[in-house]
Amino acid sequence: MPQRGRFITLEGGEGVGKSTNLAWVADWLAARGVEVVRTREPGGTSRAEAIRQLLLAPSAEEPLDSDAELLLVFAARAQHLARCIRPALARGAWVLCDRFTDATFAYQGGGRGIAAERIAELEAFVQQGLEPDLTLLLDMPVAAAQQRLQSRLTSGGAARDRFEQEQQRFFEAVREAYLARAEAAPARVAVVDADAPLEGVRERLAEVLEERVAPWLPQ
Ligand code: TMP
Repeated sequence: MPQRGRFITLEGGEGVGKSTNLAWVADWLAARGVEVVRTREPGGTSRAEAIRQLLLAPSAEEPLDSDAELLLVFAARAQHLARCIRPALARGAWVLCDRFTDATFAYQGGGRGIAAERIAELEAFVQQGLEPDLTLLLDMPVAAAQQRLQSRLTSGGAARDRFEQEQQRFFEAVREAYLARAEAAPARVAVVDADAPLEGVRERLAEVLEERVAPWLPQ
């Protein structure tokens, strides 16, 4: 039996630079001989990506109920765990995932106001004790992140999705909930200041990876 791979997640609000830093972390791991499966939530398999479409599509004529939203997030997660994450970890690959359950506590918990206990029940049901070995939380003030998001949307010509259409108060609550998760689990969650020039963010990421991940690498 190969040794189980490691499970690393990247989290943060809209516009904090998750995508480019996720690619950088994947390269860091690959350069050290690790087989990396890069994936994302909601999504990561074709059926889970179909649920992602339901979650992100703006819905003027039929607003999405927040309990339905929560259940869809966990439905996508159950499929993703069964068809992608668990098999990859079992064969010894490492999984690098763009968002996971901390996002549910932040968006559905902090943002929508769903009780953390209810989210924790679904977490226990769907994950059966599986949780990330390490979570990198990219953090920056909401106003700065919103500016970045706006310039990305303007230059890419994309429209805001259902979450991106939320207001400042929602994103402040998301950020608060993320930081509370980090404070409650400092051994798992490393906070990275994303409101810095890219070089500075990379330096801090490298520091965290050297300290926490290097000891896990195969000799
Ligand atoms: P992203 O491409 O920015 O990661 O888009 C995914 C969106 O889904 C993002 O706005 C956060 C949201 N989301 C939740 O609300 N709950 C969750 O559990 C996850 C994984 C994502």
